[in-house]
Amino acid sequence: MKLVAEAELDNVSFEDLQPTQDDSLADILKGLACSPKQINPRFFYDARGSELFENITQLPEYYPTRTEAAILQNNAEDIASLTGRHGVLIEPGSGNCEKVRLLLDALRPSAYVPLDISPEFLSASAGELGKEFSWLNVQAVCADFSGPWQDHTELPSGKRVVFYPGSTIGNMSPMRASRFLSGLRPLIGPGGGVLVGVDLQKSERVLNAAYNDAQGVTAAFNLNILNAVNALTDANFKLDMFSHHAFYNSDQARIEMHLVSKAEQVVNVGGRAVLFADGESLHTENSYKYSLESFAELAAAAGLKVQRSWCDDDQFFSVHYLGVTGW
Ligand code: AVJ
Repeated sequence: MKLVAEAELDNVSFEDLQPTQDDSLADILKGLACSPKQINPRFFYDARGSELFENITQLPEYYPTRTEAAILQNNAEDIASLTGRHGVLIEPGSGNCEKVRLLLDALRPSAYVPLDISPEFLSASAGELGKEFSWLNVQAVCADFSGPWQDHTELPSGKRVVFYPGSTIGNMSPMRASRFLSGLRPLIGPGGGVLVGVDLQKSERVLNAAYNDAQGVTAAFNLNILNAVNALTDANFKLDMFSHHAFYNSDQARIEMHLVSKAEQVVNVGGRAVLFADGESLHTENSYKYSLESFAELAAAAGLKVQRSWCDDDQFFSVHYLGVTGW
């Protein structure tokens, strides 16, 4: 455990469990060896990619972020009546800790535990939050959430609630999402819960527009994954040799993002030659969309029960509070 002095706030602690993330090359090569070729969407979020995603959230076509924020803001007290107050609020992949701000006054957690794999970003965000909410105990943990971080971290007592906003869960297949949710049960215990943001199925026109914005920010975000891969694996992807392709796959209820090769080409990745045919597609992301019913089924398969759901008037986005069923 390493406490970073720079926080210098007595309500903020920072624990660095030094997550190792050096399987990048293996992960990328494995994806490129698949048919169709794919890249794990976690590689979107280098510094430039995170900035581009920020920009996406401001786009008129990209409804999820602002819709979810309004749902959290408008229902904060109601949400608190389900989660309870003075519990331990745990956020995997907390990023800039922006969304939790909408809930803190209503939930008054005894501790907020943001987890992220980027130490600089996490300590800065946790520090900012602690400054703004001086009554809040912020216990930041730099760790891979899917790893054994709990063995090294002491959480205060109290009801545990995992906060997983942003439809981040939509990046996983329903099978993996269910396994992820199920894996939260030992952490939250029989009395705990999960507050999760989930994007909803809706008209294909609205969905397609959200991933094909007029300003081309999503295209730039998609292409930037090649820059990230170039930096991580010493590859030589040329961004102008691929084009952004995003569409709603209604059979699978997901947006798919691809990069389509503009010509036959050979790309060097970590010393290996990777051949792309003209028009060949590199699959970069899935973003699954649920109905209230299909998400409730997914939760049930994970041993969790939807206790309440909140939506906007258009039913574009949903937030669910899940409790543990059998134990
Ligand atoms: C951050 C995974 C929720 O799927 O909408 C935005 C990422 N990709 N535009 C989403 C994303 C293209 C986003 N998530």
